[in-house]
Amino acid sequence: MPTREQVTEALRSVIDPELRKNIVDLGMVRSVDFHDEGRVDVVVSLTTPGCPIRSHFQDAVTQSVVALEGVGEVNVGFDVLSAQEKQGLQQKLGRQTLPQGALAAVKNVVCIGSGKGGVGKSTLTANLTAALAAEGKRAAALDADVWGYSIPRMLGVHGKPSISAERKIIPLTVHGGVRVMSIEFFLSEEDQAITWRGPMLHKAIRQFLEDVEWGELDYLLIDLPPGTGDVSMTLAQLLPQAKFVIITTPQPAAQKVAKRAADTARRFDLEIAGVIENMSGFTTPTGERFTIFGEGGGQLLADELDVPLLGKVPLQEELRTGADEGRPLLLDDPDAPASQAIFHAARGLIAATPQELPVMQDAAGPPLEAAAPVTGTPLPMAQ
Ligand SMILES: Nc1ncnc2c1ncn2[C@@H]1O[C@H](COP(=O)(O)OP(=O)(O)O)[C@@H](O)[C@H]1O
Ligand SMILES: [Mg+2]
Repeated sequence: MPTREQVTEALRSVIDPELRKNIVDLGMVRSVDFHDEGRVDVVVSLTTPGCPIRSHFQDAVTQSVVALEGVGEVNVGFDVLSAQEKQGLQQKLGRQTLPQGALAAVKNVVCIGSGKGGVGKSTLTANLTAALAAEGKRAAALDADVWGYSIPRMLGVHGKPSISAERKIIPLTVHGGVRVMSIEFFLSEEDQAITWRGPMLHKAIRQFLEDVEWGELDYLLIDLPPGTGDVSMTLAQLLPQAKFVIITTPQPAAQKVAKRAADTARRFDLEIAGVIENMSGFTTPTGERFTIFGEGGGQLLADELDVPLLGKVPLQEELRTGADEGRPLLLDDPDAPASQAIFHAARGLIAATPQELPVMQDAAGPPLEAAAPVTGTPLPMAQ
């Protein structure tokens, strides 16, 4: 039989595909037990019980240990890291959280995500924010799509934010109190081509949360870039209490991609508040309905994730022209089918998000005024 050290060494070849480190260094090997006739039992601790890459670990652990001399059989078991162990894992990964006080007066942070681009994340972020405001909520939109920023255009707000005496960035305000922040507000003509990557991106996103004077908000909606890339990861780390709304088209193929985004969100313990199906059918002025992007994908995804389908937003040209003109459709035509569907989704979101507690800390935490002074430098472009 191999020694414990030899098994541990072998397990170093098992890499967590998302955290990109081996499970030994990540502290995810709970136990190794040796039994008669060359049987080895390995228990791996996962971040979440329904971890989608469970089968990857199952195969990789078996392969690495069975290759050792004297091992005839490998049993792989799973359990879940405790909250404290997860915190330890975050620290090992060098992950930071926001300082106490940042976003203390924001009751709900909702990330709007999808697996791919062009499904209407930004359109729905802009319109949902306006709908929440119309429902009497204090709402803001943060454009976290640093490369493909489009929230300023869709909400019709452009300009340079001012900096407060406390060196905080004041969001721009539009449509009767909707607060907006986007990288666009900091870019000059020459900057437009800058490609942001890794640490720079992380820093910009962090500052949007930490150094922006969001004030009291019921909802901060965050328009994510497509996919499960750097920005989404950064947000997931910084906002452990954020909820996710997944946008998909009715197509089964789109729904599969959206499922991957949902899986990643869940891996990082972010709760999924619901699914919105967008581009669900087009109805002609004479009432004939065409299911251009197929049918049923939203419901399928919602069922699969066991979350509510918050709404089905039809294709409507005015939703697009409204977005292009910076006027969310529901402000000008609240009875339009797309507007109605968005209002329905906004009400569903309100129902799905309890509002009693501030997001970033418990209710006993300091109020915003008493929060720790802001650390870190303002966005590099803000100066
Ligand atoms: N339900 C809809 N009806 C008509 N046009 C839509 C609808 N949803 C989105 N669009 C349009 O489709 C394009 C892509 O939407 P966008 O919100 O930019 O997607 P994403 O942010 O997911 O990349 C935009 O031009 C938008 O105005
Ligand atoms: Mg977008």
